[in-house]
Amino acid sequence: MLSKFMTSEKATLRIGDTVYELPVIIGSEGEKALDIRALRAQTGLITFDSGYMNTGSCASDITFLDGEKGILSYRGYSIEDLAEHCSFVEVAYLLVHGSLPTLTEQENFSEMLGRSALLHEDMVHFFDSYPSKSPPMAILSSMVNGLCSFYPEMLLNPLENLDMMTARLVSKVRTIAAFSYKKSMGHPLVYPRHDLSYCANFLNMMFNSPVAPYEINEDVVAALNKLLILHGDHEQNCSTSTVRLVGSARVNLYASISAGISALWGPLHGGANQAVMDMLEAIQREGGNYKKYIDKAKDPADPFRLVGFGHRVYKNHDPRARIIKEACDKVLASLRIADPLLDIAKELEEVALKDDYFVERHLYPNVDFYSGIIYRAIGIPANMFTVMFALGRLPGWIAHWKEMWDDPNGRIGRPRQLYVGPKARPFVPIEERVAGK
Ligand code: SDX
Repeated sequence: MLSKFMTSEKATLRIGDTVYELPVIIGSEGEKALDIRALRAQTGLITFDSGYMNTGSCASDITFLDGEKGILSYRGYSIEDLAEHCSFVEVAYLLVHGSLPTLTEQENFSEMLGRSALLHEDMVHFFDSYPSKSPPMAILSSMVNGLCSFYPEMLLNPLENLDMMTARLVSKVRTIAAFSYKKSMGHPLVYPRHDLSYCANFLNMMFNSPVAPYEINEDVVAALNKLLILHGDHEQNCSTSTVRLVGSARVNLYASISAGISALWGPLHGGANQAVMDMLEAIQREGGNYKKYIDKAKDPADPFRLVGFGHRVYKNHDPRARIIKEACDKVLASLRIADPLLDIAKELEEVALKDDYFVERHLYPNVDFYSGIIYRAIGIPANMFTVMFALGRLPGWIAHWKEMWDDPNGRIGRPRQLYVGPKARPFVPIEERVAGK
């Protein structure tokens, strides 16, 4: 981390008659950054960067993104290789521990996931209190925070037995997701089974029922593994930065993850996969009139944005979108489903990528554009799509929380601001106040 980057050169900053020197630091993939950690002490000035478009919050070993080239890698392994050759459990281990597991490590991790799959029965009763239409992301964030009550030992020493805490979260969040779906349907809960793999277990908990046993489809299991891997991590996105910021106050892992789940819920972030399906269904209802939505997206007076398009970092294709688009065809073929929304999505992409508005702004389909097509084909309801995103992102969040805690130079995150409010003014007793003054 911080100790791992090199200082390559100096930048000079002239303010008035004074010239300051600032170190330029360089990361392992050649990215350069202006090190402004001493800026305010040297110059009395802060930087101003709303939305943190130009600001690096940390040095990290976990994920590398090259937005211009459309490159994504976890701990040095390309997302293409991981999606092609690994299971989600393998990649979860890689993200948290920094290396791909050996066979023994993989078996031990899987065994811990199996042992951690059950929820405390007192927690299961929480589901009885949620209204059936409760948003699954609200249930997920509160249930994850509630884990602190059932495992108080980690409050005393948040870093003790991190392997166990990781296994508990990665396994129990899967159970919470499936149980919240069953409760929303008014169906009996299906408990996890030791004889099923991580993704097969999730599918079985979601779709098995006393009247119709669920038949595990290996193509669907493979697609779900791929989707969860593709969502595994994405450096300092909004929800991961939230986990790091909350964790920087020395908040325990479960509460930090609960905050990340809330951040992911936003339609500009992880909530976009559900919004994409709403948009595609609206286009379908209007007879495939995607031109109307392209025009709305381009109209500066219209707040509508083409959901599933654009990205803060990728100014080229999001490599995840490409992999998911290919997986769509395979899953739909295996399930013998012809989903008109996939055709609409492909047409929308084709038209948008020829339109100057999108080309000039480097707006390409992102991870959320096609993922809902697969979730829908599997039978996962749209209001659970962001829960699926959270399931995939969990190991990334855990890895970042651990990295932040392990940083010997780590400090509480506390950005500055530029005050533009009223200047000092005399106090006015209430009887003398005039509205609007
Ligand atoms: C995720 O950060 C991550 O890594 C996130 C994520 C992850 O894995 O964690 O990749 C997951 O959140 C993917 C993004 C999902 N969100 C959506 O699909 C919502 C639709 N996309 C946009 O709202 C937008 O593209 C964002 C939020 C993703 C990025 O916004 P930025 O970086 O703040 O971009 P911007 O608002 O500065 O846009 C630049 C220009 C603007 O036009 P001008 O003012 O220059 O004329 O591009 C336009 C924007 O209006 N624009 C779009 C658009 N996205 C940007 N115009 C139409 N449709 C869009 N989708």
